[in-house]
Amino acid sequence: MQPEYNPSDPAVIANPYQVLQHLQDEDPVHWSDAINGWVLTRYDDVRAALNDPRLSADRITPFLDHLPADERAAVAEVGAMLGRWAVFVDPPLHTRLRSLMNKAFTTSALAALRPRIAAIVERLLDEFVASDETDFIAGFAYPLPATVIAGMVGVPDSDLDVFKSWSDDLATFVGSAQAIPDKRDRAERSAVAMTEYFGEVIAHRRRHPIADQSIIDHMIAARDGDDALSEAELVANSVLLLFAGHETTTNLFGNGLLALLRNPDQLALLADDPTLAASAVEEILRYDGPIGTSTRVAVEDVAFGNRTIKRGDRVFPMINAANRDPRRFDDPHRFDIRRTDNRHIVFGYGIHFCLGAPLARMEGEIGLTALVRKLHDIELLDPDPPWHDSLVLRGVSTLPIACRAGSYTKSR
Ligand code: HEM
Repeated sequence: MQPEYNPSDPAVIANPYQVLQHLQDEDPVHWSDAINGWVLTRYDDVRAALNDPRLSADRITPFLDHLPADERAAVAEVGAMLGRWAVFVDPPLHTRLRSLMNKAFTTSALAALRPRIAAIVERLLDEFVASDETDFIAGFAYPLPATVIAGMVGVPDSDLDVFKSWSDDLATFVGSAQAIPDKRDRAERSAVAMTEYFGEVIAHRRRHPIADQSIIDHMIAARDGDDALSEAELVANSVLLLFAGHETTTNLFGNGLLALLRNPDQLALLADDPTLAASAVEEILRYDGPIGTSTRVAVEDVAFGNRTIKRGDRVFPMINAANRDPRRFDDPHRFDIRRTDNRHIVFGYGIHFCLGAPLARMEGEIGLTALVRKLHDIELLDPDPPWHDSLVLRGVSTLPIACRAGSYTKSR
């Protein structure tokens, strides 16, 4: 009998790993009616799929092509914007966009962000312990990456809330299988609003480049010979950075603290030796990473294992499943912050490898180091925090904790 995979089952949302391992063993190239696509779960297959030019990253064009003309017109702006996101395009456009964006994400541009990130971390943790807030997501895990990435693309802190709502509308459109009636209208309205907003930010930056040369200034200035990012590409990819750069890293902290609290011996290890923070970040990313899956669409028939993926079929390379594949990792369901052989693929593989990986790692390392220094006796107030219902993003929506800082005791 074929194994069942129902990603909407609340038990599977809370813990997808058991059923994914069952698929890995019994049906590694699995057709799922529930999500209308192929579910790949083995490390080697997921890695190969992410890097296979016959499996296109462009799922926007086929999606729009399938819509009736009136519905297509109703999502024209959001469709055009997503169609310019580096993550949703194939070569040669991808090669061009990525090359220009790489010029903005230099090692020195990232290193220059370190003091700013450290200052935001300190401020947020101090405010968290001094306030009545118990939700670690609202108090720290969300505002840290959101503030960092917003600053990088020229959005002031005061506009973060409005960006959160626009970005949530896009996330629902792009990543949720839920049948939310007005999700297309909301995504369209938010895409229009973001295009207008970033159009103004970019026009202002062109007239007055900011002295500290933020990522957005580097993207505006980036040149490949005579080529540069067009206005529409700058807007779209600034939105991509904002979108890709916050919720993922939020989930790195949320999933990470949850794993540490459920494995107190590992939390104690990190607290005793904060120099383990970088390796703890890698283990969090492998063990319960922020991304469940990416998506590809076959542009020709592709033989995968003993199956044939047909042209036009959707493929889900399940990144989190791959990172728990016992064929690749020893004792994969054990959370071990000192794990050394840890070549997980949470940042993807191949040409779309995450542009923000060094930034996410830096935020993770600075954040965890400060967290174990400043928060003591951390206690989980909800043993089963609620998970987002999304195949793409894996994370909890709230993580209530109690903790102590110095002489201050934060209690429920
Ligand atoms: C822990 C945090 C993060 C994780 C787990 C993550 C994961 C990923 C993955 C899996 C991909 C490849 C998707 C695919 O192949 O379809 C990707 C691409 C991308 N990520 Fe991240 N990401 C994280 C943080 C960030 C941050 C902080 C930024 C922004 C600075 C960012 C910007 C991007 C961009 C622009 C791409 C597209 C690259 C391309 O298509 O060439 N990510 N990310």
